[in-house]
Amino acid sequence: MRAPETVLGIETSCDDTAAAVVRAGPADGRILSNVVMSQDRLHAAYGGVVPEIAARAHAEKIDLAVEAALAEAGLDLSGIDGVAVTAGPGLIGGVLAGVMFAKGLAAATGKALLGVNHLAGHALTPRLTDDLAYPYLLLLVSGGHCQFLIVRGADSFHRLGGTIDDAPGEAFDKTARALGLGHPGGPEIEQLAKAGDPARYAFPRPLLDRPGADMSFSGLKTAIMREIDRITLAGLDIEGERAHIAASFQDAVAEVVAKKTEAALAFYLAEGPARPAIAVAGGVAANRTIRSRLETVAQKAGVDFVAPPLPLCTDNGAMIAWAGIELMGLGQRSDFALAARPRWPLDTAQAPLIGSGKKGAKA
Ligand code: KG4
Ligand code: ZN
Repeated sequence: MRAPETVLGIETSCDDTAAAVVRAGPADGRILSNVVMSQDRLHAAYGGVVPEIAARAHAEKIDLAVEAALAEAGLDLSGIDGVAVTAGPGLIGGVLAGVMFAKGLAAATGKALLGVNHLAGHALTPRLTDDLAYPYLLLLVSGGHCQFLIVRGADSFHRLGGTIDDAPGEAFDKTARALGLGHPGGPEIEQLAKAGDPARYAFPRPLLDRPGADMSFSGLKTAIMREIDRITLAGLDIEGERAHIAASFQDAVAEVVAKKTEAALAFYLAEGPARPAIAVAGGVAANRTIRSRLETVAQKAGVDFVAPPLPLCTDNGAMIAWAGIELMGLGQRSDFALAARPRWPLDTAQAPLIGSGKKGAKA
């Protein structure tokens, strides 16, 4: 079975309809195209992603995204060897839209098909961009997920810890909504925080006093709601405090994530990796404050640090195509029984983390 070299990646698990063409080869020329059609405008009025609207929009746009990705790559369907599609975890209607489309494409063209775990797409991105060697320590931090993983291979993940309740992305989105900002909240909070004092409010840093790499963010979210209520009820100027609240919130998330990265790093280093490295992936990894705190942790420990370019941190098709190249290279294929999965933990040897976010229980 020949390993596909040029793969079309399709991603529809949340609110971005994405398609990309990636080719095996030197890292700097791999991504032939990467088209992301954002649904932000459709969901803006609701302050969050509405699953039914997302699913319908994916079904309407997916063929356009794929056509655009092929055109940008200068290829037609005969130029690709395989189709990789996010088969979970995610909002089930959207995942279904992508999986059905990919199956149709594979059936019509006879190309190889592979259902890819969305989290594996994020987790393998540091290899797409930087050829990072296994095993590396990964902090996967997004709208629905937050976990530390030792990535040992394209299909081998060991979870060291993660959030026991909300994901940081969710906390960013909810805090943004409470501050009257738009959706998605992460970039908006980051922007507003630039004008704020991160030391103005001492928001909670849960679980820092406990050993291990588990994290918690729901108390932080509640503390912020309470502070906003307190300021408003006291008739104080909330307008003047918004940037300080945003900055103090961001600082609390960054500190928790950085401290727990130190704990996870100790576990990882104890395994004696030949070329130790920390990588970060997922939408929240686009946050510059969080990135720079993590970089400091890596520098202090003398290990490499890899943070993919911002557009490859948030959801995209290139990460799915790349995971497809790696996994098809290991001989993996899907047949037409490929099912969409709302939940799909990466580390199947361990019990799923508790808690539930916009994408369901944390995987
Ligand atoms: O990985 P992603 O695109 O989708 C999921 O798989 O969840 O992550 C989306 C999340 C959203 O919660 C968004 O607010 C957050 O990533 N995000 C950010 C930033 N950019 C996106 N959070 C903090 N700072 C950012 N700059
Ligand atoms: Zn994602």
